[in-house]
Amino acid sequence: MVAQYRITGESATAIAASIEAGVREGVLIPGSALPPVRALAEQLDKSPATVSAAYAELKRRGIVVTSGRNGTRVRERPPIAQTTRMARGTPIRPGLRDLATGQPDASLLPEVSKVRYADGGPQPELIAAAKRRLRALPDETGYTIVNGALDGLDRVLMAHLRPGDKVGVEDPGWSVCMDLLAAQGLSVVPMPVDDEGPAVEGVKSALAQGIRAVIVTARAQNPTGAAVSVARAAALRTILKDVLVIEDDHAAELAGVPWHPIVGDTPHWAFVRSASKPYGPDLRCAVLAGDQETVSRVEGRMRLTSGWVSTLLQRALLDLWENFDVVPARRAYDTRRQALIAALRERGVDAHGKTGINVWVPVPDETATVTALRDQGYAVAPGHIFRIASPPAIRITTADLQPSEVDALADAVAAACQNRLRTMVSR
Ligand SMILES: Cc1ncc(COP(=O)(O)O)c(C=O)c1O
Repeated sequence: MVAQYRITGESATAIAASIEAGVREGVLIPGSALPPVRALAEQLDKSPATVSAAYAELKRRGIVVTSGRNGTRVRERPPIAQTTRMARGTPIRPGLRDLATGQPDASLLPEVSKVRYADGGPQPELIAAAKRRLRALPDETGYTIVNGALDGLDRVLMAHLRPGDKVGVEDPGWSVCMDLLAAQGLSVVPMPVDDEGPAVEGVKSALAQGIRAVIVTARAQNPTGAAVSVARAAALRTILKDVLVIEDDHAAELAGVPWHPIVGDTPHWAFVRSASKPYGPDLRCAVLAGDQETVSRVEGRMRLTSGWVSTLLQRALLDLWENFDVVPARRAYDTRRQALIAALRERGVDAHGKTGINVWVPVPDETATVTALRDQGYAVAPGHIFRIASPPAIRITTADLQPSEVDALADAVAAACQNRLRTMVSR
C-alpha cells in the first residue's frame, strides 16, 4: 500500500500531515505498514529523530500503532473520516450472507428513526444545502454536521491544540467559550472588540504573544453585538496566516448584515453555522465547514463518541431552512435592540449593539449598576463574566423587550449610571 503513496514533508509536522492525508484519502488503508523510521528518514533526507517525532504524533492521535517487529501501521479504525465516504466496518465479500454487521434489522425499526449505524452521518441533502448557503468558502472546503456551535468549537480545538496552548479570544466575549477553553487547559489571550469585530492591533498583539488559534464571532457577537465588517474581514485575513482560525456564525440568518468571512486562507480553519438562534437552541445542530484535515479529524473523532448528529435533527434543520421564514424574527430583534439603544443615547448613555439580541452598556461600576437596576426590578448581566481586560459594562438582553418597556428601562439604566458617577465625584 505504502508503495503507492509517497510520504512527503520537511518537518515532523509536515510528515505526519502527509501520512494523515494518505489515510484521509483512503490510500493508506487501515493496517498498511509505514516504512521503517530509518528508511523513511533516508528517503526524505531527514534525521531519524524527525521521522520518529512524526510517528509519535500520529500515535498520540490514534492514527497509527507501533508494535515491535511489526513496525508502525495505520490503526484499524483511525479517528479520521475519509474524504470519499466508504461503508463503515469491514467490507463483505460478494456472495457471502452478511451475518457480520452487528446492525439492528431496519425493517423492525420505527419509521421515524429507520437509520442504522451504517447509514448515520452527515446527510448529503443538508450538506448540499449548506454548500449553497456558504458559497463564499473555498471550493475544496470540507463539511460536516455537529451538535451546535459549542460542540463544533470544542471538537476543532481538540483536533489541533494541546493544554497550555494560547488562543486569541474576543474581549469582551462569550463567557461559555472562555469556560470551554479553560476546561481544555488552553490559555486565553484577549483581543479587544469594537463594533466591527476584533480590532486589528489587538489581533496583532495576540499573534505576537504566540497564540495558536483565534476564535471570532462573525455577527451578533455576544455580548457587544459586533459584526465583522468587510474592511475588518479583509484586514484580519491579511494578518491571520499560520494560526487556526475559527469563525462562529451563531446568529447567521438573524443578524441582518452580510457575512464577510475571515476563514479560508490559513492551512487550518473552521467555520461553524449554528441553527440555535434562528431556529431554536433545542435543534443542537450546526454546520461545520473547514479545511479537509480539520473536518476529517472532527468527524472521525465524533464517530467514537456521539457517532453523528441524529438524522431526525438534520432533516428538521433542512426543512426549517427551506420553509421557515426568519425575517419577522430578525426584524423584531432589530427593532427591540435599536429602540433601547436610541432611548439610552437620548439620555446620554453610550450603548453598543449593531446586531443580535444584546445591548452592551459601558458603566463606571458593574456591581453598583446591576444592584441599582435590580432595585428597580430589572435583572441584567454583569459584564465581568464576559470580560478579560476590557472596561466594566453590563449586558442587557433585548430579545423580548416590548416597546412599552423601553423608556422606563432606559430611565433606570441612565439613573443607575449617573448615581454611581455622582457618588464617585462627591468622594
Ligand atoms: C457567540 C455564541 N456562539 C454560539 C452560541 C450558540 O451555540 P450553540 O449552537 O451551541 O447553541 C451562542 C449562544 O448564546 C453564542 O453567544
